[in-house]
Parts: sequence; structure tokens; C-alpha cells
Amino acid sequence: MTSAPTGPDGRPGSDDRTAAWELLLPAAAAPARARGRALQAALREAVRSGRLAPGTRLPSSRDLACDLGVSRGLVTEAYEQLTAEGYLRSGRGAGTWVGDAVRAARPRARDLAPRSCGARVDFVPGTPDLALFPRSAWAAAQREVLTDLPHDGLGYPDPRGLPRLRTALAELLARRRGVVADPERIVVVSGVAQATALLGFVLHARGMRTVGVEDPGSPQHSALYAAAGVTAVPLPLDDEGLAVGPLRDSGVRAVVTTPAHQFPTGIACSARRRAELLDWARSVDGLILEDDYDGDFRYDRAPVGALQGLDPEHVAYAGSVSKSLAPGLRLGWLLVPESLADEVVERKRTIDLGHPSLDQALFARFVERGDYDRQLRRCQRAYRERRDALVAALAEHFPGSRVSGIAAGLHVIAALPRCHGSEEHFLARVAAAGIAVRPLTEYGHGAGGGDGTAEEVRLVLGYAHLTPARIRAGVRLMAEAVSVSCSPGVSVGAAPHQ
Ligand SMILES: Cc1ncc(COP(=O)(O)O)c(C=O)c1O
Repeated sequence: MTSAPTGPDGRPGSDDRTAAWELLLPAAAAPARARGRALQAALREAVRSGRLAPGTRLPSSRDLACDLGVSRGLVTEAYEQLTAEGYLRSGRGAGTWVGDAVRAARPRARDLAPRSCGARVDFVPGTPDLALFPRSAWAAAQREVLTDLPHDGLGYPDPRGLPRLRTALAELLARRRGVVADPERIVVVSGVAQATALLGFVLHARGMRTVGVEDPGSPQHSALYAAAGVTAVPLPLDDEGLAVGPLRDSGVRAVVTTPAHQFPTGIACSARRRAELLDWARSVDGLILEDDYDGDFRYDRAPVGALQGLDPEHVAYAGSVSKSLAPGLRLGWLLVPESLADEVVERKRTIDLGHPSLDQALFARFVERGDYDRQLRRCQRAYRERRDALVAALAEHFPGSRVSGIAAGLHVIAALPRCHGSEEHFLARVAAAGIAVRPLTEYGHGAGGGDGTAEEVRLVLGYAHLTPARIRAGVRLMAEAVSVSCSPGVSVGAAPHQ
């Protein structure tokens, strides 16, 4: 190269900077029609990546054109374009420099992918079996919707959601979950997460600064309230669900709870506790947010109806398709008490101007045709079989282990004997064997977070996304990793395994 760039101090550029020109060579070799754009993209990338540091003086357009073997006009055009975009700046006299506005992207401090990525067997809870997604029924509904949707159906939607979907949801939720479902009080949202956040914002606007959350519970709840400026107050559980005494003592006037199948402990809220929670809400003129994240799936009996059905003015009810179809659809619903409805809808409008219309129309069609009921039945069959496989494998490979929580949902709590050292040690050996698990302690807010006893480790094991064969293999590998006896003849009494 005849013309190395010079640095901010006017000295010739380093070897690294010289290499930046080499990055431009492939662009110079691009087909004639694409060469100009390729040159601009390569130059932009050299600045963005830091290969060309801020303040670096660029060669004249004539020199660079000569080095690269392209026309001078292409280089001039690239300089002008990147100057307009702020990547370069030109001096008053002759000369072009790398601008100061660009900051090289730093390498990511930590990988954003889930920690279980690459695990041999992944028991991390929360995901349904994405292979059960009903692709052909979904595609058929999509085709029909696109054919039938009038042009104005593509305009900004009602922030509450399409009337047709709200009507379909009202029928579905009343029938399956026993909610009091008025289509006028349903807001279509992008999941329970958005429902939680919307309520957080509305409560904050009303002056509320604290909301109760279950401990142990979903870390999402606290994080979402924090984002709305509301502090989560951890509240303990007992055998019947959220403990009412501490709830009363806490002074909060709103609480989020998972009564059908507490996350993560798997406790079902008793009928007595339901009544006590409602008494509390009425006495403080408060609000219960019922998170019905997996309430459709119960394996030992018919699902117990939603708390909201008992008092729709004190309970807001939220659910989604995240456990039945796919969390990636980002589709859910919030049933709000009348007193909060306008404010919640206004928040929804402010945040995103309503949920995407096509997705709503498609899901409405899917529900109306009975496809969603079919999908729920299909998941119910698969998940029940998988839970049974997990419980049996634990009994076989971890004699003395206990499974707690009702037979429902997509995960169990397993208390496993800890033969060797601390919980940390146990988890490290399991992780080293390529098995991804979450201990119950990860879901606790503090000392009362549900630690296992000194002799056991309590794990939250998700099973819905794994085939029975994988579940068995995973449990066997886990047992081998912690050197627990795997002798097949060991029989474990049925009593500890619900
Ligand atoms: C307790 C609980 N609530 C709700 C959700 C789902 O939220 P969303 O409907 O936003 O996907 C999850 C997801 O794992 C959860 O664990």
C-alpha cells in the first residue's frame, strides 16, 4: 500500500490500521454494480469495529482508489456517504478523518443465551415441547385469515384487542378456567409478563409503591414490578398456598399469586386459603393478580377453576399461550376488574398501540375452530406421560428421593438425597455431567427461600419439553454424576412420590 492512514497525532497508522485497508479489498473485488455499496459497508464496519480508530486520517480519495484499484468516484462517494452518516468527518481544508461519534461495540460481558445452552439434558423449567406446535393447523388458520381479512383489519387495532378474539377468549376461559369473562374487560397482551407490567404501571400511577410476591416465586414478577417503579415484597408460603398472616402484616394492597399451581413449589391453593385471600383483598380494597401460567394442565383431577371466578372485582386474571403453544408467540390475556379497566387499556395503548392484528385474528380462528382445545388435550396427554416418566426415574435412580407438589403443569420439585458434600458441590457435579438443573434456592428471595434440608437438594425439574426416553437418560446421568446408587432393584415406596 502506498498510503497508510495516519493517526490522530498525524503519525503513520499502526499495522492494525493498515490492515483496515485490507478489509476493503474484498469490497473492491465485488461485481461492478455492487462495488460502491460494498465499499461503503466495509468502510463502515472498519470504523464500527474500531479497526479505524476515531481521529484516524484517511488517505486521499485518489490514493485509496489507486490502492484498491477502483474508480476515484466510488471512493469519493463512499467518503461523502459515511460523512453524512457521522462515521467520518471532513476537515475545512482537504482531508477526511474517522469521526468521534462511533463507539466500537464491546464484546458481550456474558452470553445472553440461557445457561443450559448446549447441555446434554436440560431440565430447566419453563418451556413447553415446541415440537408439539401444531404447524399445519396454524398454517391453515393463517391462510384463511389472510384471505378473509378486510383491508381495514390491517389498521391500528383496538388496544383491548380484536373484538372477535376477546369474544372467543371469553367463551374459552369461562368454559375451561371458570373465570367471569366479559369480552369488554379482556385485554389481549403479549403474555403474562406484559399483563404484570401493565398492572404495575397502573398501580404505581395510583400511588402504590409496594406489591407482594410469592417467596419462593417467579423472579419475573419482582423484575417486572421493579421496571414499573414498584418494589416487590416477598411473602412466605405454607402448605395451603400464600400465607395470609404475613400478607396482612406486610401492609401491601396488591399481591401476585399462582394459585392453580404455585411457581415453583407446585402447591395448589386450598379452598380455605382462596377464601382467606379474597377476604384480605376486600378488607384492604386491594387487588390480587392471579398468574394462571400453567392452569390448564392438571393430571390427577380436573383443573380447579380460577380464583377470579369468585370475585372478579378484586382479582385480575392473566394467562397466555406460552405453555400450550409457544412462548415465542408472545400472546396472552388479562382480565381486569372494572375499576382498573380504563387505565390498563390506556397503558396498553401508550406502550405499543395494541397487539398485532394478524396474530390476534389467527388465534381467534384457531380457538373458534376448536384447534386450541385439541392442542391443550394433546399437551395434557404428553406432559402427563412425561411427568410419570420423571417420577418413576427419580424413584429408580435416587432411592429416598421425594417429589412434591400436585401432579400438574410442566415441572416438579424433587428433593434428592445429598450424599456428597454441599448443595454447591452436588450442583457442580451435575453441571459437569452436562445436565442443566435449577435448585429451588434460586427462586427464593432470602432465608425463607425453600432450601432443602441438610441431607437433600431440592431441584425444580422441567419435563414437558423432554421425551420420556430423554428424561430417563437425564436422571440416570444425574445419578451417576453424584454417585448415588443406581442399582435397578431398589424399590421406593409410592408414598413419597405424589
Ligand atoms: C410463574 C410464571 N408466570 C408466567 C410465565 C410466562 O409468562 P409469559 O406468558 O409472559 O410468557 C412464566 C414463564 O415461565 C412463569 O414461570
